[in-house]
Amino acid sequence: EAGELADRLEVKLYVVGGIVRDLLLGIDNLDLDLVVEGNGLAFAKALARAQRGQVKVHERFGTARVTLADGFKVDVATARAEYYEYPTALPTVEQGSVKKDLYRRDFTINTLAVRLNRRQFGELIDFFGGERDLKGRTIRVLHSLSFVEDPTRVFRAIRFAVRFDFVLSRETRALIQGVVKMDLLRRLSKHRLTDELQLVLSEREPGKAIALMDELEVLACLHPDLELTPRLRTLLKATEEALDWYRLLFLDRPMESWLVYLMAMLQVLPDQAVGEVLKRIELSARQEAAVRAGRFGGHRIFRELGRRPAVSPAAVYRALSGTSDETLVFLMAKSKSEHVRRQLSAYVTTYQRMRPALKGDDLKRMGLKPGPLYRRILSKLLEARLNGVVNNEEDERALVR
Ligand code: CTP
Repeated sequence: EAGELADRLEVKLYVVGGIVRDLLLGIDNLDLDLVVEGNGLAFAKALARAQRGQVKVHERFGTARVTLADGFKVDVATARAEYYEYPTALPTVEQGSVKKDLYRRDFTINTLAVRLNRRQFGELIDFFGGERDLKGRTIRVLHSLSFVEDPTRVFRAIRFAVRFDFVLSRETRALIQGVVKMDLLRRLSKHRLTDELQLVLSEREPGKAIALMDELEVLACLHPDLELTPRLRTLLKATEEALDWYRLLFLDRPMESWLVYLMAMLQVLPDQAVGEVLKRIELSARQEAAVRAGRFGGHRIFRELGRRPAVSPAAVYRALSGTSDETLVFLMAKSKSEHVRRQLSAYVTTYQRMRPALKGDDLKRMGLKPGPLYRRILSKLLEARLNGVVNNEEDERALVR
C-alpha cells in the first residue's frame, strides 16, 4: 500500500537500513525505516491518513514518525534532493539522493535499500557492497572519517560484530584503533558513553563484546587500567550463569542485566578506580547504588551469610532486604561459597517476597491502636514466618495476642 501511495504522490520510496539487513539475515526486526526521494513529510502525512495512524513531524530534519493503529511505528526520512535540478534525469541520477542519504550511514551492511514503488517493487539497491559484506560476514565503514564523525560508531561496530558473529574489515579495525589512539572515545559526553555502554552490554553475549572491546583497547575509555584479565573472564562467565539462573526463575521480571556486567568489570579494578569510572558515566541514583552495593557490599553480606551454623532465614532477610535484584545476581556470581549461594538463592526465590498474612487493618480490627507499634509487630510476624515459627494467619493471630 505504501508503494501505491508513493506512486500516487510521485515520489520514490525505499525501505532502508537495519530491517533490510535483518531481512536478508533472516532475523526479525520491527523498526521500519523508509526514505522518500521527494516530499517525505507529505508522504508521511498521507500514509498516516490512509492508515488512520498518527504522525509526528520534525520539519527541521525532514523526518516524521507514523504510528499505525496497531502501534507499529514507521520512520520516514526525506532524502535531500540535491539532484532534482534535472527534471528528466536518468535513473542513476534519480537515485542520487537516496544514495547520498545511505552514504551518511555507518556500515555497508546498513546501507541496503529496497524499492517499494509498484513497478520496481522489491528491487534491492546496493550502492556500497552491503550484500557482499553480509555474505562475507564483515563490518565495514563506508569511508575513513566515519568514526571521527561519530565515535559512537565504534560501539556500534562491536555490537554488530558480536550480534551477528561478523568480523571487522581490516581497514575498519585500523580506523577504530586510530580513534582510540586519538582518545576520541574519552571525549564522548557522559550521556552518550553511558548509552553506548548500556547498548553494548545489553547484547546477547556481553562477554564477547567485552572481549572485543578489550582487543580494540576500547575498555580504556572507561578506565586506563581496565583489561580483560583471566580473573575478569572467570567472573564474566559466572555472571552469565547467574543471569541465566535468574531469567529462568523469573521470565517476566525486569532486570538491568547490563549493570551486572558493569559490576563484574568494576570488580577487577582497585577501589579508587571504581569512583573514577562512575564519574565517567551517568547512572541514575538507583543504578549507582546497585552497582556500588555489588562492588563494595559483598564483604559484609558474605560474612553474615557465611556463618556456621547457618544463620536463620530472618537473619538472611535482614542482611539482604533492600538489595536490588541486579546486586543479588552479581553477589551470586561473585560468591565462591556454595553455602552462601544457597542462602542467596533462598532469599531471591522465597524470602524476598514473603509477607505476614495479617495487615495493619487486621491489627486494628483486633483492637490494637494504630501507631509505631504496628511496624514492630508486622516485622516480628514476618520474622516468625521466615523462621517457620508461624505458618498461617491463625498462628499469627495467636502470636500477636
Ligand atoms: N546510524 C549511523 N550512525 C549512528 C547511528 C545510526 O549511521 N551513530 C544509521 C545506521 O546505518 C542505521 C540507521 O542509522 O542503519 C538506524 O539506526 P538504528 O536504528 O540505531 O540502527 P539499526 O541498524 O536498526 O540497529 P539496531 O538493530 O541495533 O537498532
